[in-house]
Amino acid sequence: MPVITEIEDLKRIYRRRVPKMFYDYCESGSWSEQTFRENSSDFDKLYLRQRVAVDMAGRNLKTQMIGQDVSMPVALAPVGLTGMQHFDGEIKAARAAEKFGVPFCLSTMSICSIEDVASHTEKPFWMQVYTLKDDDFMQRLFDRAKDAKCSAAVITVDLQLLGQRHKDLKNGLSAPPKLTPASVANMMTKVQWGIGMLSTKRRFFGNIVGHAKGVTDPSSLSTWTAEAFDQSLNWDRIREFRKMWDGPLIIKGIMDPRDALEACNVGADAIIVSNHGGRQLDGALSSIRALPAIVDAVGDKIEVHLDSGIRSGQDVLKAVAMGAKAAWIGRAWVYGLGAMGQQGVTRALEVIHKELDMSMALCGRTDIAKVDRDILMVPQGFDDGWQ
Ligand SMILES: Cc1cc2nc3c(=O)[nH]c(=O)nc-3n(C[C@H](O)[C@H](O)[C@H](O)COP(=O)(O)O)c2cc1C
Repeated sequence: MPVITEIEDLKRIYRRRVPKMFYDYCESGSWSEQTFRENSSDFDKLYLRQRVAVDMAGRNLKTQMIGQDVSMPVALAPVGLTGMQHFDGEIKAARAAEKFGVPFCLSTMSICSIEDVASHTEKPFWMQVYTLKDDDFMQRLFDRAKDAKCSAAVITVDLQLLGQRHKDLKNGLSAPPKLTPASVANMMTKVQWGIGMLSTKRRFFGNIVGHAKGVTDPSSLSTWTAEAFDQSLNWDRIREFRKMWDGPLIIKGIMDPRDALEACNVGADAIIVSNHGGRQLDGALSSIRALPAIVDAVGDKIEVHLDSGIRSGQDVLKAVAMGAKAAWIGRAWVYGLGAMGQQGVTRALEVIHKELDMSMALCGRTDIAKVDRDILMVPQGFDDGWQ
């Protein structure tokens, strides 16, 4: 077992073990990847304020997200196709999350279906829903999530159009992977991954195939996907989705205070300040820079979470100090999954937990709920002065 001390270790192993097509799918942003890069590099511009001779004993990272208990303010963000990063990937990640006591959010575009994940886990997970045109499909997706006892729905509002990632086009990304001479040659070098994939029947989009009208087999899926996303989405439509789901609701993909206020009016319980990990609007602000104006605008009307760019417990601490109630991780858990399956996701969570705990202590704080901006040194102009 290799010594894993940071998320970067998991990424290195992940890169070795998973076919290039799926590594690239995860490790890319849209177009020039400016936003993808700045999501992480902007965290480095925030400094933590070291304090000494403060009682650091008896620390607490436990808190709540939308009223649900969590062992630290971190959730596993919805990531499509994770069953291609490691066989039965969504089930494994959900199990790691429930054991750790943090929420797992299943993507609409997962390989393992809602029902499949529910039957392999004990605690409720959260369900992410894209804003699609097909009303029947949407209602059924919410109903299926309810039947599977999902304890929150997450509506992703920043994907009316799919951002272009150059590598996915060049690699011919698909699930299951298209067999070209290049992809076969690459897959032959990923023995463990291949053995895992051969051992499972879960290789297609489990929430779509057999559930969406006209999608009875994987070959009809690409036509459906191209037509399914609703370019004419507006807040009235999101209000209709709110009526389809009467449980806790989170709106994901907010980057502007005006949209944050709209989300409050829809009756959501939380918003996620997110630019989809730099996969949608290239050139958008990093989410950590966008956060403070949104927190100011909504006050305590709604819980504010953040994702995009988090690769360490220090990043989580900075997000909380800047006003987020919690942070979501995307790639950080996928690296763990691709590297070592369920154990790797657990390891990613352990690494982040330890970093968060120790960094909070060294800032002189003992309770995550009481962390505020005073622990940070924020460069002038970091989060304001935009015209
Ligand atoms: C490979 C990949 C697939 C993703 N798929 C989805 C998805 O299906 N639904 C969704 O709402 N967000 C999706 N996201 C966005 C994540 O939920 C999250 O916003 C993002 O990963 C956060 O950035 P980070 O990876 O830098 O932590 C995806 C992100 C990645 C990297």
